[in-house]
Amino acid sequence: MNKERFVMFVNRIPLNLAIIVLCAIWLLPTLGLFITSFRPQQAVNESGWWMALAATRPGTDEYQTYCGQCHGENYNALPNADLSSPDLIAQYRRSIQLSGTFNREYNGVIHIPEDQHPDAQQTADILDHLRIASGLQESPPRFTFANYKDVLVGYSARGGTYDEVCAADGPSGTRTCDFWTDATAPNAVLRGMINSFIVTVPATFLPIILAGFAAYALSWMDFNGRRVMFAALVGLQIVPLQMVLVPIFRMYTDLGLNGTFLGVWLFHTGFGLPYAIYLIRNFVGRLPADLFESAYLDGANHFTVFRRIVLPLALPAIAALAIFQFLWVWNDLLVALIFLGNNAPVLTYQLSQLVDSLGGGWHRMTAAAFISIAVPLLIFFAFQRFFVRGLLAGSVKG
Ligand code: HEC
Repeated sequence: MNKERFVMFVNRIPLNLAIIVLCAIWLLPTLGLFITSFRPQQAVNESGWWMALAATRPGTDEYQTYCGQCHGENYNALPNADLSSPDLIAQYRRSIQLSGTFNREYNGVIHIPEDQHPDAQQTADILDHLRIASGLQESPPRFTFANYKDVLVGYSARGGTYDEVCAADGPSGTRTCDFWTDATAPNAVLRGMINSFIVTVPATFLPIILAGFAAYALSWMDFNGRRVMFAALVGLQIVPLQMVLVPIFRMYTDLGLNGTFLGVWLFHTGFGLPYAIYLIRNFVGRLPADLFESAYLDGANHFTVFRRIVLPLALPAIAALAIFQFLWVWNDLLVALIFLGNNAPVLTYQLSQLVDSLGGGWHRMTAAAFISIAVPLLIFFAFQRFFVRGLLAGSVKG
């Protein structure tokens, strides 16, 4: 390695280090979320995702702490109270029955002194542990699709996963316990995902197509008030979306557009347009004028020029914009909530219904998070090259 290259290498170390640190800051929590989303609820409550492979059976530590010194490591140190015997443990179906023995006296000695009792959660874990040790219950799997299933069905009741409850009680209410039927029911999350697509795809393409035309007109067609119009568009970008919710809502009520997809498409189009026009115009306006003049001389009309010259050249900018607009609409809750609400609930709306107000069921949120970013991620990776080119489009002169 010669000196010059060595110096370059050393100079790059801080930059590379910074990139590695940044990647770690982003990737680690994502990885954690991802692993957590595949863990059963109990495991999630007991240990962190980094313990996913090391985690032992539920209640192992608790048993060691509270019971091990008398009942022994193999549960059978006391012959009259062999905790590995299924017959004995079968008497304890609920943790409350087990905690009932704590104050009992055996041979004149209180079983467990008051100040050494495990708490309710620990007792429940110990019972699970004993039921598994005695063969009454299967050890829970380390990883499971249960969270994803629950989320797709939109199942949020307490008392077990969708599969467990279906196996125990069978269908109840509107539930059929047939996964695909339940997941595509009007209030299920998979259905919300489909609704999100129905909202997002037109709400992405409509503003961009219109903005393409407008950008061309604003930069290459001569008409009165062109500059004023463009200035107004730039100004319009500041108008916060919330400001027009009420007027648009009332207008939609009169027109019968409330609760329809058309209403949401129009709303997103209206709010996407100013920025889209601004961005594409900046790009299209910088194309060399000779390009257009020769095309006009050859007899091409505006539409041909737009289609043959402008569109292909502006594609990176348009693609980058499309990705942004797609993400914005896909993640939007406010507009969908107000203009669609319950009529056609979208993904974000359905996800907001999954956790209860006390924060219970957050393990389901981990799966929900991945379901809702799956589509944006796919889009991003598919159009990644356009994305970088499009972002640089305005900044470097080619
Ligand atoms: C200080 C010692 C000690 C500790 C700690 C202890 N046990 Fe016991 N346990 C006993 C004795 C002694 C018996 C009675 C054995 C006998 O009948 O001869 C017993 C009996 C039992 C029985 C049998 C009751 C029945 O119906 O026969 C159960 C179940 C039990 N213990 C569970 C537990 C659990 C769970 C823990 C931990 C939370 C625990 N024990 C902690 C000493 C202890």
